Amino acid sequence: MISNKELLDCAYQARERAYAPYSKFFVGAALLSKSGTVYLGCNVENASYGGTICAERVAFTKAISEGEREFVKIAVVTEKGKLIVPCGLCLQLMSEFGDIGVVTAEGERPLSAYLPYAFGKEFL
Ligand code: THU
Repeated sequence: MISNKELLDCAYQARERAYAPYSKFFVGAALLSKSGTVYLGCNVENASYGGTICAERVAFTKAISEGEREFVKIAVVTEKGKLIVPCGLCLQLMSEFGDIGVVTAEGERPLSAYLPYAFGKEFL
């Protein structure tokens, strides 16, 4: 299985493609599916700022639209040496697919450490 360091390297590669002319805050994500495929994502901003999509959600929507439903972990990075935590919207999307690992430059923690009381299908 791919190491966390390798997954972080994939996320740094994805970050190279970030489209962030407004914030200039460049983010990359690499999502590992149970099948072993890594899906890359970068943030995609828009002149209508609310239309911006985070790197994590780009990686997830790419994977889901390719038929993936089961995931192991996601690596998220910004500039080397700087820490990032996924935003609330991204955490909510991730929680739909179970308690995956979240890998940052600081190490790995379960999603449930970031979002312990997620809204899920049990409330519907
Ligand atoms: N951003 C991400 O891509 N992921 C996060 O988890 C936090 C924020 C992006 C969105 C926007 O393009 C920029 O970072 C500044 O908020």
